[in-house]
Amino acid sequence: MAIRVENNVFYLETAHTLYQMKADNFGVLQHLWYGPKTDCCMDYLLDYPDVGFSGNIYEAGDQRAYSLNTMPLEYAAGGVGDFRVPAVCVTHEDGSRALDLRFREYHIKNEKYNIPGLPAVYADASEAETLEILLKDTASQVEVILKYGVLSETDVITRSVVIRNQGDTPILINRVHSLCLDIPYGDWEWVHFHGRHTMERQAERAPLIHGIQESSSTRGTSSHQQNPAVLLCEKGCTETSGFCIGAALMYSGGFQTQIERDQLDQVRVVMGVNPDTFAWTLSAGRCFYAPEVILSCSDHGMGELSHHFHNLIRNHVCRGKYKLSKRPVLINNWEATYFDFDEEKIESIAKQASELGIDMMVLDDGWFGKRDSDTSGLGDWFVNETKLQGGLNRLVERINRMGMKFGLWFEPEMISEDSELYRKHAGWAIRIPGRNPTRSRSQLVLDMSNPEVVEYLYQAMSKVLSENHVEYVKWDMNRSICDWYTPTLPNSRQAELPHRYILGLYSLLERLTHDFPDVLFEGCSGGGGRFDAGMLYYCPQIWCSDDTDAHERSFIQYGTSFFYPISAVGSHVSAVPNHQTGRTTSMRTRGTVAMAGSFGYELDLNTLDRQEKEEVAGQVTRYKEYQSLIYNGLYYRLSNPYEENLSVWSFVSKDQAEVLVQGIVFRASSNSLRPRIRLAGLAADDSYMVPGEERVYTGRALMSGGILLPDIKGDDVSIEFTLKKAGYSEGSPKF
Ligand code: GLA
Repeated sequence: MAIRVENNVFYLETAHTLYQMKADNFGVLQHLWYGPKTDCCMDYLLDYPDVGFSGNIYEAGDQRAYSLNTMPLEYAAGGVGDFRVPAVCVTHEDGSRALDLRFREYHIKNEKYNIPGLPAVYADASEAETLEILLKDTASQVEVILKYGVLSETDVITRSVVIRNQGDTPILINRVHSLCLDIPYGDWEWVHFHGRHTMERQAERAPLIHGIQESSSTRGTSSHQQNPAVLLCEKGCTETSGFCIGAALMYSGGFQTQIERDQLDQVRVVMGVNPDTFAWTLSAGRCFYAPEVILSCSDHGMGELSHHFHNLIRNHVCRGKYKLSKRPVLINNWEATYFDFDEEKIESIAKQASELGIDMMVLDDGWFGKRDSDTSGLGDWFVNETKLQGGLNRLVERINRMGMKFGLWFEPEMISEDSELYRKHAGWAIRIPGRNPTRSRSQLVLDMSNPEVVEYLYQAMSKVLSENHVEYVKWDMNRSICDWYTPTLPNSRQAELPHRYILGLYSLLERLTHDFPDVLFEGCSGGGGRFDAGMLYYCPQIWCSDDTDAHERSFIQYGTSFFYPISAVGSHVSAVPNHQTGRTTSMRTRGTVAMAGSFGYELDLNTLDRQEKEEVAGQVTRYKEYQSLIYNGLYYRLSNPYEENLSVWSFVSKDQAEVLVQGIVFRASSNSLRPRIRLAGLAADDSYMVPGEERVYTGRALMSGGILLPDIKGDDVSIEFTLKKAGYSEGSPKF
């Protein structure tokens, strides 16, 4: 039993962790513990200082030390005396804004809960249990149901919240966060992932200051600028030691993570849909379902925490045929041609690719409608026969005949004013009546809350997918959303639109991924602008960034790796000088960095000389050889590129017999010692060899003393070598 209840204390146990809370004598649900297993009720750590200006609930009488404002709460509501950031706020019919939530009942179920209309972690009944705790407002008929999914073996707890209006008048939900986590003790830092287009998920670690720190998006997407995932680590926590907690929101719209360090140095984390772009009128008798948060912690550093998330997302979030299987190595024509291509050009790239062992040709933007630049055509999902004179079918057939699969780009959620769709349905674009809409990349956004729009997109896309042998879809989304307004909602409910947009998007993704189960869907939003666990439920991989420069990519992929599995990271070798940075790196370095992901190419292979083509063929072979190890092995960050002159990572097979070390050394320096890196995750007592070398090292030596990297000459040089357990042979079991 992963979940048990003793004397109103709830124990949620995974293989190595314990989550604990308690309903006290007043029915207040107090948070007791989230950390390593302790085999003990942790309520002895609760302290009740009498802190000035911290009021008391009425029933506490003269117990001045009993204050919602100072105790760790399981789910904090606004308006009744806890002045820290609330998880939930509602406005009642009379205009008052208060919720005094008290424990009523609980249920335990031997399966993982689902969330209507939203992606959620899934598991077999044998792998998960659910705890539902019903809290009720003392004065109204508003109920809050806290849901906890416990996936013991993965050391993960999921959380979600349902608000139920049991009264007979509507309420307005002003905010409803999915996570509220109070941590009364410790010296904490946080790691969040900020960035911009072409430089996503830059890891930033900072001490928690008193007051509120926030990472959020109001862009209608999870965004390039912040990511809906956050790490809290105790000071001194490293990749391999120390305590840390991670939380990732399974949601692709605007989100908010707030972390407050309060007057008593206690920490509260709330995470969920961003209340700045959200409000929801909940009619009598209705429920609101908040998205899910995936929560995990580790007492052995951030590396192990990442393993928990990688394992969970790969096995319990991603779905479909390609969830665990090897993905095709692809070539995408975007950086090779941009909008300037025809059939012949695409076929010539595909032909070269097929000769070099590449599995799939992906035709990017520009194949449809009147789309010769980014100013027109979005919404017209029928082939542009000026460019592709024989239609899509003939092109696909020819590419298939080369032995290659065929993939296609869509940007379903967008509309160009210069398009047939806009001429017919201008009202489908999001804009506020009486105002000019904001254009971004010259385009407007379709109103995904409108079922007619979703139906149109389903019909248009499924027509293309069923009439042509398309085996891959790149689902792009190239702008942030503003000017929120929809004619489909009354004026008083316009604040619901951003969330309804996401529900519409998910419904379309669900339908298409269900109806085309053999198609590999790759997410994209100007690269990695919507790289979140919500999208990974529909698309097992996401184009990580429009920045394909190996040097900058190594930072982007470093940040991405904290939460997201390597198989989820779409990653390509592109031409040099790099189109984003102008930097020239070697083909080898570009290959090494791109291999730490779902691999492919994004350049015109016809421009390569013979030697470069041989290198490409060699990379494709090497990638296919390592692919299982890259996907299924444990990934270790062996350096911090922000602090060191290199970025090095490794993949270790589950039996610890095979290790692939890859990386990039940034700057050469004369008269210096060779760089040394310490490995991780090896069997300490076993011996390892670098193939081709005589020398044998113990796992212990490689992890504590490390290994010297080869002599480096030049900047941005690739590191790539394998280690094998001594005595290991190709036939040995791998995973
Ligand atoms: C976005 C994507 C690119 C490419 C272009 C096409 O920027 O991230 O990979 O598909 O759109 O317009």
